[in-house]
Amino acid sequence: MNRQIVYCPNCFELCSPQETHCKACGYSLTVTQDERSLSVGDDLHGTYTVGRVLGTGGFGITYLCMDRRYSRICAIKEYFPGEWVKRLPMTKRVMLTDSRFEANYRHGLEVFLNEAKILYGLRDNSAVVNVSDFFQENQTAYLVMEYVEGETLAQHIMKQKKPLSYDEANRMIFNMASALGYIHKKGLLHRDISPDNIMLTKDGNMKLIDFGATRQYVSNETVDMSVLVKTGFSPLEQYSRSGNQGPWSDIYALAATYYYVLSGKKPLTANERCSGMTMKSLHDRQSNVPQAVSNVINTCLDMDYTKRPQNMGRFLELFRNAVLSSETPKAHMYFYQNGKMVRKWHMLPGRTVRIGRSMSECDICIEDGMISRVHCSIRYEALENAIYVTDYSSNGTYTAMGLIGKNRFQRLMMGSEIFLVSDKYRFKMEVN
Ligand SMILES: Nc1ncnc2c1ncn2[C@@H]1O[C@H](COP(=O)(O)OP(=O)(O)O)[C@@H](O)[C@H]1O
Ligand SMILES: [Mg+2]
Repeated sequence: MNRQIVYCPNCFELCSPQETHCKACGYSLTVTQDERSLSVGDDLHGTYTVGRVLGTGGFGITYLCMDRRYSRICAIKEYFPGEWVKRLPMTKRVMLTDSRFEANYRHGLEVFLNEAKILYGLRDNSAVVNVSDFFQENQTAYLVMEYVEGETLAQHIMKQKKPLSYDEANRMIFNMASALGYIHKKGLLHRDISPDNIMLTKDGNMKLIDFGATRQYVSNETVDMSVLVKTGFSPLEQYSRSGNQGPWSDIYALAATYYYVLSGKKPLTANERCSGMTMKSLHDRQSNVPQAVSNVINTCLDMDYTKRPQNMGRFLELFRNAVLSSETPKAHMYFYQNGKMVRKWHMLPGRTVRIGRSMSECDICIEDGMISRVHCSIRYEALENAIYVTDYSSNGTYTAMGLIGKNRFQRLMMGSEIFLVSDKYRFKMEVN
């Protein structure tokens, strides 16, 4: 149906019906929306104006909207289970296509209400989409969220036609693992982690959306959970009502998401793996992923949930160690003499570098009578992102905070400076 457009569905500027593109943002005004969705310009709750459709799923339609009170863009998800309902022509009202679906529809509505409540309780986490309002209207329900400018990881990879880089994927997994750790601590499981439900924002951050499958769980107890499966991403225990679902289930889906964003291939489904098909490791698919990291992902994708890390804290520890152990050092030590940088060294993790006057005993030699034969030593610890300095000198080793005690390990953060005797000889450690 070709409806007369008054508002630009993308930026909400007023446009005349003769225009083909919005003068303000260039958006095409001739695109027609699916007739099952609300129309551009429709009002919701006396507060919001409906714009373009952002996404359509089995249980809902998400629209870009304008909150007229604050002239602020937002996203509104409408409960619209397409299998059971239709829109009454020329109205906003939603109605059942058959009364047989009544019970299903009511149950789905409860689940939708649950999503709203859960999201409202997670508002203080910046890695979770922010929900601001919830209301019932048009015989259905609506969830008002912040509009996340960007695209889902799935959309991003499809558009770019190439997987994420190793660094980008690591940022994703660290970001999402911390957010999930927070969610688990509240006694909740997301249960639908996948590249469709993680948004990559314009400024390079990640945000978790779609809490439609989220449930409360009781640790160490098998509770009856609804069956919810996303092929390739859901663990075996989500295929049955009595499967023991816990943080390890989200860990499986997160590892599967990591596998996909790096290789462009979904892991085999739990059913395929049950039937004996073996899955290629991530390292075999994508050789730039270090073996140690690939091994951790493999453990997280174990069919037996007891073999996986049991909580996000443990997962983060394993994953971080694997990443750090396979990293080439990026730390450098800069040497300044009378304020001028004269040399730069690569710092290897865990190695001790000795500085002093004695060429035979030291790695870095400074020929100056004020400097002791072995003046001090420096060790770089990559895992802690810190350095340890020990002073052995007569005339002292200093930091910005003062003198370092003799024969003690002094822990300093990267970026700190060390002075030998005076500020004539200065060392600075940096990660770059
Ligand atoms: N807050 C939001 N900001 C921007 N786009 C969104 C937002 N929420 C959802 N979307 C878009 O709508 C799509 C469907 O939303 P989602 O909550 O995942 O619903 P579904 O249950 O249909 O999967 C997403 O994949 C995304 O493209
Ligand atoms: Mg979704």
